[in-house]
Amino acid sequence: MDVQRGVVVAIMVGVLALMAEGQSENGRRVVNFNGDWRFAKGPQDEAQKPEFDVAGWQAVRLPHDWAIAGPFNASENGYAGKLPWRGEGWYRKTFTPDQADLGRRVYFDFDGVMAFPQVYVNGQLAGQWDYGYMSFRVDATPCVKFGQANTIAVHVDTRQHGTRWYPGAGIYRKVTMMVCSPVHVAHWGTFVTTPQVSDAEATIRVRSTVENHLDAQSQVMVGILVLGPDGKPVAKGGSSETVPAQGGRDVEQSIVLPNPQRWDISSPKLYTVRTTLSVDGKAVDTDTMPFGIRTFQFTANDGFHLNGRRVQLYGVCLHHDQGPLGGAFYPRAMERQLEIMRDMGVNAVRTSHNPPAPELLDLCDRMGFVVWDEAFDKWDGTADRVKGEPPLEVYGEKQLRNFVMRDRNHPSIVVWSIGNELGGGGRDGVTPERVKFMSDFVRKYDSTRPVGMACHIPALAEQPNFDALDLTGWNYARRYATYRQRYPDRPIIYSESASALSTRGFYDLGSPTQNSALGSPMPLPNRKNEYSKVAWASRPWIQDHGQDARATFQVNSYDLNAADWSDIADSEFKLMKDDSFVAGEFVWTGFDYLGEPTPFSQEAKSSYFGIVDLCGIPKDRFYLYRSYWRPDTTTVHILPHWNWPDRVGKNVPVFVYTNGDTAELFLNGKSLGRRQKGVVPERPENFAQGKPATASSSQADHAPAQANDGTPNSRWTAAAAGADQWWQVDLGEVRTIRYLAIEFEREEKNCGYQVKVSTDAATWQTVVTKATSRNPRWGGPTQIFHDVDAQARYVRIEFTEVVNGAWASIREFAVYPARAESAYYDVTYTYRLRWNDAVYEPGELKAVAYKDGRQIGEAVVRTAGKPAAIRLTLDRKDLNATGDDLCYVLVEALDDKGTLCPLADNLIRFKVDGPAEIAAVGNGNPLSLEPFQADYRKLFYGKAILILRTKAGEGGQVHVTAASDGLTSADLAVQCRSERPGK
Ligand code: GAL
Repeated sequence: MDVQRGVVVAIMVGVLALMAEGQSENGRRVVNFNGDWRFAKGPQDEAQKPEFDVAGWQAVRLPHDWAIAGPFNASENGYAGKLPWRGEGWYRKTFTPDQADLGRRVYFDFDGVMAFPQVYVNGQLAGQWDYGYMSFRVDATPCVKFGQANTIAVHVDTRQHGTRWYPGAGIYRKVTMMVCSPVHVAHWGTFVTTPQVSDAEATIRVRSTVENHLDAQSQVMVGILVLGPDGKPVAKGGSSETVPAQGGRDVEQSIVLPNPQRWDISSPKLYTVRTTLSVDGKAVDTDTMPFGIRTFQFTANDGFHLNGRRVQLYGVCLHHDQGPLGGAFYPRAMERQLEIMRDMGVNAVRTSHNPPAPELLDLCDRMGFVVWDEAFDKWDGTADRVKGEPPLEVYGEKQLRNFVMRDRNHPSIVVWSIGNELGGGGRDGVTPERVKFMSDFVRKYDSTRPVGMACHIPALAEQPNFDALDLTGWNYARRYATYRQRYPDRPIIYSESASALSTRGFYDLGSPTQNSALGSPMPLPNRKNEYSKVAWASRPWIQDHGQDARATFQVNSYDLNAADWSDIADSEFKLMKDDSFVAGEFVWTGFDYLGEPTPFSQEAKSSYFGIVDLCGIPKDRFYLYRSYWRPDTTTVHILPHWNWPDRVGKNVPVFVYTNGDTAELFLNGKSLGRRQKGVVPERPENFAQGKPATASSSQADHAPAQANDGTPNSRWTAAAAGADQWWQVDLGEVRTIRYLAIEFEREEKNCGYQVKVSTDAATWQTVVTKATSRNPRWGGPTQIFHDVDAQARYVRIEFTEVVNGAWASIREFAVYPARAESAYYDVTYTYRLRWNDAVYEPGELKAVAYKDGRQIGEAVVRTAGKPAAIRLTLDRKDLNATGDDLCYVLVEALDDKGTLCPLADNLIRFKVDGPAEIAAVGNGNPLSLEPFQADYRKLFYGKAILILRTKAGEGGQVHVTAASDGLTSADLAVQCRSERPGK
């Protein structure tokens, strides 16, 4: 295809008359093709044949994910949601193209089909695709019969699809049919760039790819009309071109636009270019494409700049599913996700790890988010490359072409990512050559944005693997350090941060007796992987510690937990502040998602990573991010809830998340003191620090004294490998010892040992016996704590076993008279206000927050009585009868005084009358295997969500009732506006 630079005609509106606008009767017709499908699961012999009888098939409307209906398989591992996504299925629909359209083109545009779709029209294979997350077009023209009934049949097969999360199954994004003239703008054939932008003017370059399917060449007038953010025309141009028979031509035209209005996250102004093709003076096709005018730059030393100013990226990674709706993509569900994220302060989204539905990008354009658009997770089976076929060169170009061509006009996109966490070498991994050709495929279709990748193996940056990238993202734990050394001039993004974990509403302080026996002020987790006092005890590596084996499989919501490889939110805030050269972070993840339920991958079905739960209900963390990311907006949030009947008179720590710098906490009107950010409470005295230490043997640079010098930066290491080594400290006098904190050189799971104590160094008493463990499988903490109750002057650790190449080696051995919080959590005092010693009594807990001495707001939590009534809260009241519009109803239990009941788990039954149906129900419990498609749901920590979906073409009033035994019911009405649905 040759590129023809068109005559540049930049004419301001008002000066000359506007050209005719496209939609003549011969213009293109884009038809919503989501309605009236039939679906059957499993193999169906010859279902592509028009005469095949679909009686008995299920009537469905797209988007459709057949697997979300369940049932869950409790015994299956939770990595893909325990849902039946693996299998094949068929979709069929009949349609009748107008006789008058004879001679025109008929295309089907699929936004995403999971997976390996084959599209048959009237029995003939019209097209197929091989990546479940990619949009593709099928040219049905040769198969279509005009003026009579046609059949489209789509075979879907997920059996070869590889995944690390829940992928869904079926035609899960929208389908449109486009009928257009044989001379038309090609699929994704409008490409708008803004090569020069200043406050005074912007150059708008429009490349139009024109296709001519006629057997004769065509003289085509390619007219472009630019509409401003208010929809009014602002400029136009045109160029007359000869387009060869059965061929195409790229036509490039530039327009200079004075006083451009910028697209920005704070003010996302969108322009539109309307391209109209005319033949013999008659408009035959019009393509409409929104775009934005903005400049941006990723710098190596000062992060990201948008329109000339530095913008810190407050980003979230989002997986593609929409919780209880599964993979099925509903624009309103996405809009709601973004509204919730926006409220928290998010300004950037990473579409981890796949091309999103196109509406996500439309929404980001419209709402003002920047986007890290990602093509693949790995380049292996998770990208639908089965056994490495097709070869990466072939596969990569084909997929990246569609990926970039579809999305390249979105002003929101600022990075193209060619993958996530690839290993090195091998059949499908990173090599310098592969990274180069994948990056170059992207650049072939768009050279205006940087090409990047989310990396996680620092050692890969020791080789020239990433030479071809413009920037890199790095996942977790400052792993970018090696890369930064090699490429000091290249920008870095923290493409995944946190992977912090929590369950909404769940707080576990352990058993009160256990806490009080130790007189402990800190019943909180003391390691990031101590997920809950009881869940902790239930895991095999904890059972080694001989504790209670009851299980909750939930993660404490005090926000002190993260995956072994990652960190709590506060540590990441600090990291981004310290490393200001990094453009910002993308938190893993904004929303909980189906699958990957680390750390309880066997037991649960959905993740614990989300800042909000699977239904979009905020967890406590939401307010922590909000308080830091939106410093000028008032946030005052108290945790935990205040219903602790077992802990009257006992310690219940209270945290406040606020954008203020100080707050005062009141319990039933009595002040529990004022706290200020940045003040770390003193730890109890470490009796061991600096005291005489001896050991069985020591390496030259690693003397015994280095294990109790107060810093984990130095260590004692035995001279000989293996166990049978010991280290000992003399505290100088007999002390009351309650707590030991030991930090090993490697993961503590590799060390088996006994801790013995003595008053005279002659008679020893064993206070701790710990075995080695194979859990967790990867990584694990290096630090361990032991509750002890001893009077002793000498403390000694004797190694009994060291495995996995570990060594008897201690970075720090601390001995305390009471529980001492791990220094890992010091950073939390910078971002939160904590009353660690609060003692529970029922009533009212109130926090009053201040900033710069001025009161900015307050928050209250109250002890609730028994659940007495249901409350329903709508996210919106006016719905459209499009068949895919949604209404989210928050369902809560209140006591007889109207106080929220934070522990309520009542079963609620729903009844919906009128033109809407229940699309799904959910409650954010990662363990719940209740169906998502049901008219009932148990509350989970007091809350659940009901999702209503409108019916296509049916307007009127929708009535919802929620009832539960023993509770006062609730009901409400929603108005649904009638609209002609597309068929
Ligand atoms: C990352 C990975 C994500 C997700 C996350 C969980 O390493 O890129 O897809 O698995 O870990 O922490």
